[in-house]
Amino acid sequence: MTGFCYRNGVLHGEAVDLRMIAGELGTPFYCYSSELIGERFAAFTDAFADMNPLVCFAAKANSNQAVLATFAGLGAGADIVSGGELARALTAGIPAHKILYSGVGKTAVEISAALEAGIGCFNVESEPELLALSSIAAARNVRAPVSFRINPDIDAHTHAKISTGKYEDKFGIPIGDARRLYAEAARLPGIDVVGVDAHIGSQITCLEPFDSLAVKLAELAGDLIRDGHALRHLDFGGGLGVSYLPGEPPAPTPEQYAAVVRRRIRHLSLKPVFEIGRFFVGPAGVLVTKVLYIKKGRNRTFVIVDAAMNDLIRPTLYDAYHHIQPVEKVATEMPAEVVDVVGPVCETGDFLALQRSLPPLRPGDLLAVMTAGAYGAVQAGTYNSRPLVPEVMIRGEAFAVIRPRPSYEDMILLDRLPPWLQPS
Ligand code: LLP
Repeated sequence: MTGFCYRNGVLHGEAVDLRMIAGELGTPFYCYSSELIGERFAAFTDAFADMNPLVCFAAKANSNQAVLATFAGLGAGADIVSGGELARALTAGIPAHKILYSGVGKTAVEISAALEAGIGCFNVESEPELLALSSIAAARNVRAPVSFRINPDIDAHTHAKISTGKYEDKFGIPIGDARRLYAEAARLPGIDVVGVDAHIGSQITCLEPFDSLAVKLAELAGDLIRDGHALRHLDFGGGLGVSYLPGEPPAPTPEQYAAVVRRRIRHLSLKPVFEIGRFFVGPAGVLVTKVLYIKKGRNRTFVIVDAAMNDLIRPTLYDAYHHIQPVEKVATEMPAEVVDVVGPVCETGDFLALQRSLPPLRPGDLLAVMTAGAYGAVQAGTYNSRPLVPEVMIRGEAFAVIRPRPSYEDMILLDRLPPWLQPS
């Protein structure tokens, strides 16, 4: 059994009782199913198999070493957006030639490190970045493999904070400037034009934006090939959505997505490339938290839990819905109650769910916040001096702590006293 399912009324990650992990590690913690990650990766790669794709994992979705090493073992590449992600991907064993580097603000130090490692492609997001890359590569006497990230001005119909393919967004170069910039790139020292790239947003739940993107990229690639560029790949970015509500139909399936891509690029002999984050890891993770108190307000009931916005910021930042379910199903005659599930952080925006119907809960009950494997732990912080939330990975009957909970001492030791405050 992969993923998270009830067995005898108790939520398990694969074959592991989540109560057992809570007993050993305490709460809150993130927990990932490595088998489900593998299944989701296989479902995607199988759907595109006839197109011989390069499937990369967008490391930003979950960059724990154990998660990246799992992807390395599956044969995935990595989409990275910083020197830190480069170091993490290489350390986890992702081959450099399968690493793509996106992002609008690559520094000279980061560019040098990526050239040194010999990454597969720089997804260049502006003309000044192209010039910087050219001069750094030429000075090192190497050639940087380059795609431009195209901004196709397509509405991905997703939350405004995670839409990236409109002209109002800071990402990529306007599609109308592409041929001029590719011509310039071809003339510059230290640059090898190898592909075309785009990423129009995240949590995309309909096919139409992907289809519009495929049409525009295929047309542009055709023009660029006619202009004499030796393109090798077409990178569609990430964005494939997942269902956050149980029973909700899955967002476009990999097969549906593959059919769109196949139809639009079949006349071009280009390798499709993907930078998938959420689809691979979102459903493969949960955040487990414990009920501390039930507080009856005048017109609200607050279920106060030990996880907070610093551990999972998605509900307050993107109005995101995460399904919440008790780890132990309790047979009860009592009706469900509509409650706010909130954390201990001193902010009104600190909630995991508002006005949510949940079965009656008591202090000490464990809750699982579902579909939290993507953009959960990676966006966690230590606000209110709450130690960074730990992470656990399950495989079959085994589980391992893949990031321990820091002690207060660990946390404090990150700071330094200036000489004038040190005890003499
Ligand atoms: N490629 C690039 C260049 C990206 O910027 C992203 C995500 C991806 C690929 C992967 O997209 P995915 O397949 O995961 O949709 N923190 C937000 C999501 C931000 C996504 C940023 N870029 C959230 O929690 O919803």
